[in-house]
Amino acid sequence: MLVGFVGSGNMARALALGFGEPALFTDHGSGRAASLAELVGGEAVASNRELGERAELVVLAHKPAQLEAVAREVGAAPVVLSLLGRVTVEQLAAAYPGAQIVRAMPNTASAIRAGVTCVCGAELAEVEALLERVGTVVRLEERLMDAATAVSGVAPAYLALVAEAWIDAAVGQGIPAAQAAVLVGGALAGSAALLQARDMDTLAVRREVTSPGGMTARGLRVLEHAGLRSAFADAAAAVAGPSTT
Ligand SMILES: NC(=O)c1ccc[n+]([C@@H]2O[C@H](COP(=O)([O-])OP(=O)(O)OC[C@H]3O[C@@H](n4cnc5c(N)ncnc54)[C@H](OP(=O)(O)O)[C@@H]3O)[C@@H](O)[C@H]2O)c1
Repeated sequence: MLVGFVGSGNMARALALGFGEPALFTDHGSGRAASLAELVGGEAVASNRELGERAELVVLAHKPAQLEAVAREVGAAPVVLSLLGRVTVEQLAAAYPGAQIVRAMPNTASAIRAGVTCVCGAELAEVEALLERVGTVVRLEERLMDAATAVSGVAPAYLALVAEAWIDAAVGQGIPAAQAAVLVGGALAGSAALLQARDMDTLAVRREVTSPGGMTARGLRVLEHAGLRSAFADAAAAVAGPSTT
């Protein structure tokens, strides 16, 4: 299935790398379409109209505000995969009458085929197989898509911030930055694998490390007092709540 990306920014790049096959690309004048075509194969096409005519699957990888303008340029498209945050299947169907619409919320870990993509809308085996190539696919009711954005869409940014803070803390305790990065990277990867191997039984994993009154218990208490849980809850509400843009 020939994929055409309308928009060649960060998310298009991650998905195109993960899909790992030549595709068509457009941009809004930056030249990123040509760079991406050079990186993954395929070609930068001259217009969204040409992309709409040639692609079997049109991936909307531009910003949500450009929905109507882009749809007028693309014209009739048989299958549309939208990555646009907060844009509903109903709005997409109004912009692309007659098209089969899949709404997805991926994350940039798709680039290394370790993504999580939440989907709703049309159930199309070929599109889901493509998304499964770049990681785990979770079908959700549409009303939960904004909440899913607040969990998996944002995840690489959250974990990058956590890793940065953790490395800084290690450096503060005297560990050289390069080694601190190895420790934190290994800790994140190993702990994620351990949690998954235990079916995400977070309490069991935590108890195994936490002796009563011991060092881990002291660290956990500081994180709880610093508001770790409420910080995650507030961040989820900020992402999933009413748009401010
Ligand atoms: N980034 C993420 O982690 C992530 C995760 C999940 C979903 N998303 C969704 O993915 C979409 C893209 O996000 P992004 O982070 O990749 O944005 P981005 O890096 O800013 O890329 C946006 C791309 O759209 C292009 N564009 C704008 N207007 C266009 C037009 N009329 N025709 C063709 N291309 C056009 C831009 O062109 P220029 O290069 O010329 O500026 C740019 O290549 C958003 O709707 C976002 O909600 C993003």
